[in-house]
Amino acid sequence: MQEFPPAFEQLALPGLRDAVVLITGGTRGSGWAAAQLFARCGARVALNSRSEEEARRAAAELHTAFGVPVLPLAADVSSPEQVANMFAALADWSQRALQVLVCNAGYPLMEKLWQTPLHELSSQEIVEWFQRVRAVDLEGARYCSAAALRLMLPHNNGSIIFISSTPALAGYQGTPYTEAKAALLGLMRDLSREYSAAGIRVNALALGNIASGWYEQLSAERKRELALEAPLGRWGTPWEVAGAIVFLASELAGYITGHTLVVDGGVLRR
Ligand SMILES: NC(=O)c1ccc[n+]([C@@H]2O[C@H](COP(=O)([O-])OP(=O)(O)OC[C@H]3O[C@@H](n4cnc5c(N)ncnc54)[C@H](OP(=O)(O)O)[C@@H]3O)[C@@H](O)[C@H]2O)c1
Repeated sequence: MQEFPPAFEQLALPGLRDAVVLITGGTRGSGWAAAQLFARCGARVALNSRSEEEARRAAAELHTAFGVPVLPLAADVSSPEQVANMFAALADWSQRALQVLVCNAGYPLMEKLWQTPLHELSSQEIVEWFQRVRAVDLEGARYCSAAALRLMLPHNNGSIIFISSTPALAGYQGTPYTEAKAALLGLMRDLSREYSAAGIRVNALALGNIASGWYEQLSAERKRELALEAPLGRWGTPWEVAGAIVFLASELAGYITGHTLVVDGGVLRR
């Protein structure tokens, strides 16, 4: 990822200083960029990934760079038991405070899983692939949201942000990814209606092509092709995703809930 952008050096968004923020999948890509922006705003950041070593490494780096309290949390979000343990550790650390949850962890994008349309999958692949992607992207977000709501409700305050994707809005080619990311938007709308009266806002991002995760696996030609899908003519950066996340989490977005913010360089507006 690029260096911390100079444009964000002076960043201070209302409502984020000392806020407790949990980011799932916070050690790489957009989640890691968001962790840095939250830390830059003075938030206390809990960083999750499946790897204990990675979570500790990222937490140490964040604390050294920004001086804020940081908690590493190793858990696979698709496991209800691991999510329960993660939230128990978070609640101890934060004295049962949680202002922001970012459900960012996603099943790794593999070219085969992304490119194979439904009719070309075997019955066994249909069962396995749809279950696997749904378990991380949708069920993981549901487990984390349920636990987060229990911490947010006593304070009548909170913001939950789901990371979805443009195929959830436009369709793509009948893949598990589209289905899980679209269901995530249903969960987002449902929670925003149910918990608005308790002061809890729930929103989502629908991302286009972002230069993280799968980006490094692509050939130079494929990178060029995908860049040109966007009217802006390039890939988005993790920093641009992180900027939208911290905006939605902050009090600047205090009257926004149930919304999907599209971060795709204009693809869906073409
Ligand atoms: N990049 C894109 O173009 C794009 C486009 C649309 C939507 N998105 C969505 O944006 C989100 C972030 O994508 P990214 O490209 O920034 O990802 P990334 O760079 O691959 O990073 C993924 C992060 O999630 C963690 N993770 C993966 N599976 C997990 C699990 N089961 N439980 C807990 N943590 C897990 C990873 O750490 P460990 O491996 O150590 O667990 C890592 O910290 C995903 O939801 C993705 O679907 C991405």
